[in-house]
Amino acid sequence: MLQGKNAIVTGSYQGIGKEVASKFVLEGANVVLIDLNEKITETALELQNLNGEAKIVSIQKDLSNVGLIPEIIDEIKQHFNSVDILVNNAGIYRTENISDITEESWDQVFNINLKTTFFLSKEIVKLMMENESGCILNLSSVAGKKGRPYGAHYAASKAAVISVTKSFAEAYGQYGIRTNALCPGIIRTSMIESIINNRSALENKTTGEIEQQYLDKIPLNKLGTPEDVGQFAAVICSDYSSYINGQAINVCGGFETD
Ligand SMILES: NC(=O)c1ccc[n+]([C@@H]2O[C@H](COP(=O)([O-])OP(=O)(O)OC[C@H]3O[C@@H](n4cnc5c(N)ncnc54)[C@H](O)[C@@H]3O)[C@@H](O)[C@H]2O)c1
Repeated sequence: MLQGKNAIVTGSYQGIGKEVASKFVLEGANVVLIDLNEKITETALELQNLNGEAKIVSIQKDLSNVGLIPEIIDEIKQHFNSVDILVNNAGIYRTENISDITEESWDQVFNINLKTTFFLSKEIVKLMMENESGCILNLSSVAGKKGRPYGAHYAASKAAVISVTKSFAEAYGQYGIRTNALCPGIIRTSMIESIINNRSALENKTTGEIEQQYLDKIPLNKLGTPEDVGQFAAVICSDYSSYINGQAINVCGGFETD
């Protein structure tokens, strides 16, 4: 499905990003993994074992610092002549009541979730324009279509990711570059495990009760898996989705229907 494509996946040490990158490699893509975690090299080795033919490159960088983007672009250019796919997946959640959100916490969430998504895309799209084709996939969230009483900054950042997605789709569609947002619901990763633990403390409920609250709102009656998101990301970034542009698509088991 993605044979010979060159893809970049941010936040790919673990969770959804790792699974997206794995699916890409299994579908024949070469992948640049970017993550803060120094063990990103171990993830790269795991992915290499999935497909010995694929070129896998890992870059360890803190993506909340947009000043590092020129270095990242230089490193990508050392390995690949062109870029076909960018997945802006790296993100953080802070479980905080509105009254507890500080300016520092707001900025941390917005830097990685929104600012880097915008500024990295702004540079990568220049490389895509050289080939008049490309696909940008931004990880938003169903939270970006609603709100979150325990993560108002997170929800706002993910709403803004949808807006940036639509702006890129309108600006660069004429160059054959598709930009879409993927909005996961409740996906079992370390991010969701820590949200469940933190909400349990804030709301004085057991983790089982918090998980049940989610399940009560999910018609498929189960939490999602990184595989659920990874396999759909591969479809959106492939030519099977050649007419999908400017959309914010939920992968949530029916948790959100707008
Ligand atoms: N898990 C869910 O239920 C869910 C739901 C909706 C949206 N999302 C979104 O999906 C994306 C992935 O979430 P996840 O659940 O896999 O999270 P996760 O915490 O399991 O993984 C996030 C990855 O991003 C990396 N990362 C974080 N900050 C970074 C930084 N400053 N620089 C470089 N790398 C950084 C981490 O090291 C980690 O590898 C996020 O954007 C998240 O907001 C997740």
